[in-house]
Amino acid sequence: MVIQVCIGSACHLKGSYEVIQTLKGLIITHGLEKKVTLQSSFCLGICGKSVSIKVDDQVLSLKPDEVVDFFEKNVLEVING
Ligand code: FES
Repeated sequence: MVIQVCIGSACHLKGSYEVIQTLKGLIITHGLEKKVTLQSSFCLGICGKSVSIKVDDQVLSLKPDEVVDFFEKNVLEVING
């Protein structure tokens, strides 16, 4: 699974750095370094909804305080089946 977090200016202002740090911590905590690749990306084209992220081919948006929820539903549940 590849998760890209937009670091374009709109998303940066809304906390993409915090989103990346939180995701990085969660990936390590759950030992998923080999299964989940975290990358930064340029503008994903939905700046109004930032922070924008792309999970494989799906573009989503989330706020920094929604990262844990997102991770449980869209990463852990998907990877663990
Ligand atoms: S700056 Fe993030 S989607 Fe445009």
